Amino acid sequence: MWRMIYYFSGTGNSLYVARHLADALGERLCTMQLSSVSSLKEQADESVGLVFPVYAWGIPSVVEAFAKAFPKGAKPFLYAVMTCGDDMGYTDRVLEKALGRQLDAAFSVLMPDVYVCLPGFDVDSKEECREKFLQEETKVKEIAECIKARKQVRLLKRGPFPWVKTYVLRPLFNRFLVTDKYFRADASKCIACGRCSKTCPVGNILIIDDLPRWQSHCAGCLACYHACPYHAINFGKMTQHKGQYNLYNYMK
Ligand SMILES: Cc1cc2nc3c(=O)[nH]c(=O)nc-3n(C[C@H](O)[C@H](O)[C@H](O)COP(=O)(O)O)c2cc1C
Repeated sequence: MWRMIYYFSGTGNSLYVARHLADALGERLCTMQLSSVSSLKEQADESVGLVFPVYAWGIPSVVEAFAKAFPKGAKPFLYAVMTCGDDMGYTDRVLEKALGRQLDAAFSVLMPDVYVCLPGFDVDSKEECREKFLQEETKVKEIAECIKARKQVRLLKRGPFPWVKTYVLRPLFNRFLVTDKYFRADASKCIACGRCSKTCPVGNILIIDDLPRWQSHCAGCLACYHACPYHAINFGKMTQHKGQYNLYNYMK
């Protein structure tokens, strides 16, 4: 029997959680790619975990594509672990719609917030980040116990007005803000180190004439913005005075 955890991560939080969970369960990790769905079809899976970040109280486009390709005949114990900075609305329901089936279990894990592209949104303070990493340890242990016991549970932080967030605000967000057309690199700061290109989980950035060029299939994860060592990358003017998040500052 096969037990597998599939993950998608932009800035590393979900990969961090997925690794801890895989260690606690003794399971294997695999990135969410359409090519990995085909291996799923061939296996008689006993349990499948999906670990990914919440984007606008819903699922990232990469997760949606993976979930839609999920084999309809497969009947593993299926669970989702969703990392979010604050609250996740009805992300689990959005995922279930894309999968075409119910999840057996669903969990949210609070992690440092990486969303910075709208007024009023910024990275968490160092203290808040440390607190979230402390809580993550306990939460992952709890999740692992639930999964080992094949518990049908939902331990989720939906937050206030989940319906409005997921079904009214999210479509607007996806329509107007999931785009790379506002990303620019400041040529006076950029040293063409290529970190943005290497860190992009969907291979959307090429370095051309010593500057990053976005190739219009952005996942909206902001990994490029956060990874830039000189804060040379901005999303319009909105992020010029915002903070950057680096997971490695908090890893033990
Ligand atoms: C485009 C985008 C949208 C986000 N939307 C939400 C949200 O609706 N609710 C929330 O609590 N956090 C939200 N966040 C924060 C992330 O879910 C959180 O920081 C997550 O742990 C990042 O995971 P990653 O490092 O694996 O990419 C958003 C982040 C991004 C980049």
